[in-house]
Amino acid sequence: MPIWESRNSRVSAIVLLCCLFLSCFPGLIISAVVTLDSIEIYNTHEVLKVVEPSVYFVCKGENRIELPDVKKANELYKFKGEESWQPLTELSDKKCKRCGFYEKDTLKSDDIFDEWEFCSSEFTADGKYIRFKNKELNATFSCPECKTSVTASSSNSDSHQGGNRMHVALIILISVLVSTAFILGLVVAFKYWQKRKRQQEQARFLKLFEDGDDIEDELGLGNVI
Ligand SMILES: *[C@@H]1O[C@H](CO)[C@@H](O)[C@H](O)[C@H]1NC(C)=O
Repeated sequence: MPIWESRNSRVSAIVLLCCLFLSCFPGLIISAVVTLDSIEIYNTHEVLKVVEPSVYFVCKGENRIELPDVKKANELYKFKGEESWQPLTELSDKKCKRCGFYEKDTLKSDDIFDEWEFCSSEFTADGKYIRFKNKELNATFSCPECKTSVTASSSNSDSHQGGNRMHVALIILISVLVSTAFILGLVVAFKYWQKRKRQQEQARFLKLFEDGDDIEDELGLGNVI
């Protein structure tokens, strides 16, 4: 039946629209990639200073990022941001993360170099952030996307927020329109299908009658003969 075909194509169009719609969402929840530019540790927490420290970075609830190169205190390690373990994490412009640098310890619980609230708003206009803790570490981070949200929110916070709100409103409007159109389409298709079915039933009924008449005629004729 052609109606089913048109319905199927309508359904696939809706599925496509939904996918497009969902693909717009990651843009709403802005999360920016953070890489480690450099790190220098001033102290290892191992009792035996000959043992190489095993340093890692972690944000609460995320995977540990081991820093395999960082082995010596008082040495500056620089990174390009493309290393296999990069990026460190992602920051959203709404919420900070509790992150830190730690040193694995086999005997007792891991030692903390530093632990802090990592916020995208703390990155400077050129997308850099320096975390320095006396006698512990000096780490520099890079997050070019943090910069854009920070500069935008510091220079014209209101219009930026307004723009975001517009964006959300637009998406809601579009989704309402799309779902209304979808429901209307379904109703129309159903009505049409019902009408067609009724017509077909009527036709079949009439045909049955005609056939019945024919038989009766034949029977009547047979009686006469
Ligand atoms: C920390 O490291 C960065 C990059 O190497 C450097 O520019 C900065 O001066 C250092 N800060 C301190 C307090 O040593």
